[in-house]
Parts: sequence; structure tokens; C-alpha cells
Amino acid sequence: MTRVLMVCLGNICRSPLAEGILKAKTFLKGVIVDSAGTSSYHIGNPPDKRSVEIAKKNNIDITEQRGRKFIVSDFDNFDIIYAMDSSNYRNILSLARNENDKQKVRIILNELFPNENLDVPDPYNGGEHGFKVVYDMLNEACDEIVKKII
Ligand code: 4NP
Repeated sequence: MTRVLMVCLGNICRSPLAEGILKAKTFLKGVIVDSAGTSSYHIGNPPDKRSVEIAKKNNIDITEQRGRKFIVSDFDNFDIIYAMDSSNYRNILSLARNENDKQKVRIILNELFPNENLDVPDPYNGGEHGFKVVYDMLNEACDEIVKKII
């Protein structure tokens, strides 16, 4: 049983999409998927309407998700922690207690473009198109993740 945590800044735009996409691709396959944010900005909030909308267009319902903050015990409760961008990556690593914690943390687009450390762009201040771009990137990255963990 693999446990995967998706992490972005607010936990309302990118990581809820990553959670919803990977859950859909691993349904009934014994994979646990959750998401969190490195900030406290949106604790308890539902995902951004634009993330809800692009997910819905792809037959994925993320409306039940609620924002939460990444906590140190997430290192114990998950096997792989995917950061959406390099800033999230650094912030997660800054909370790591040891080497074992650190080796769980990865940049999600490295699944598609190994060692390039590319960011899933933060779509929060942009328009709807940015959410489609993010969706498509995460969809492809999750296909690679599925190949690894199932
Ligand atoms: P996310 O996007 O990290 O993909 O959830 C953001 C959401 C909210 C904010 C920044 C990024 N914010 O500054 O409130």
C-alpha cells in the first residue's frame, strides 16, 4: 500500500487537482492519496472554483476536499511527498527531521522531466487557461506515478 501526499502553497489550486487525478487513476488499487499546503492561508477552505471546474470537465469531483497545512507527522504517514514547485520543495525539506524524511520528498514534474526541477506554475493569480495547463501537466505526471506505484 503506497501513501502519496501532494503539496502546494495554498492547497486550493494545484495539489487538490493532483490528489483528485491520482485518486481517479488508482481507484480500488490500494493507494492512499491526500494533499496539503505549506501555508496556512486556506485551511478548511474548499478548492478554488477554477480547479473544481477543470476537474469536473474531466469527470473528477474534488468538491469534498478541504485545505490543510503540511505537518511534520506527514513524513510518518506518507511514503512519497510530491511538491508542486521548488519553493514548496524547499519548505517541506526545511521541516524534515532526518534523511529518511528528506528522501520521501520529490518535485512532481521530475516524473516527466527527470532532474529538471520544473515547477507546476501557480495558477492562482491568472485566468482559467492556467488551470487547464496545470491539469494537463498533472494528468501526465500522474500517469508516470501510476506506472511506478501500482
Ligand atoms: P496553490 O495556489 O498553491 O496551487 O493552492 C495558491 C492558492 C492561494 C494562494 C497562492 C497560491 N494565496 O496566496 O492565497
